[in-house]
Amino acid sequence: MSALSRPNSDQSSLVIPSILLIGVLTVLLVALLTQIHPAHSDNHAALSAPDPAAVSAGKTVFMSVCATCHGVKATGIKGLGKPLIGSVFFNGHTDAELLKFVQTGRPVTDPLNTTGVPMPARGGRPNLTDTDLANVIAYIRSLNAK
Ligand code: HEC
Repeated sequence: MSALSRPNSDQSSLVIPSILLIGVLTVLLVALLTQIHPAHSDNHAALSAPDPAAVSAGKTVFMSVCATCHGVKATGIKGLGKPLIGSVFFNGHTDAELLKFVQTGRPVTDPLNTTGVPMPARGGRPNLTDTDLANVIAYIRSLNAK
């Protein structure tokens, strides 16, 4: 009787070490994944984190030019300019692409125009330099990163 039940109890005595092993492996896996994840998002932040000097210069440009239509918080003004925070267009384009976009604007004849209101080239200020525009893009990036 006891000889028969012994193999069974041996088997069940393996259950606890097995659970422990699975538990340890799970903890290791989770640790590994959470290690990879911050490293990945750090990388991402490093790629998209704008230069603080550019952000600060860009804020000045934004407040004096873009805010008229896009709002002081870049949340948009109905009938004037679209929100730039959470904008799929803004967040879906590179800095270089956005620079080109702001240089040319988006006339009402552009199929991408959704409001029937034109986005003027350089925000309607031809005297803005490409550096001014790059800075303003850095500023809007910083707002979207918050
Ligand atoms: C005279 C008003 C006006 C000014 C000034 C202006 N914009 Fe715009 N902007 C618009 C309008 C209107 C649109 C949306 C056009 C459309 O219907 O697609 C737009 C669209 C945009 C978009 C695309 C948003 C999207 O989700 O499609 C970006 C980016 C943008 N503007 C950046 C800027 C920047 C940067 C400045 C300052 C240099 C600026 N704008 C100044 C009116 C303006």
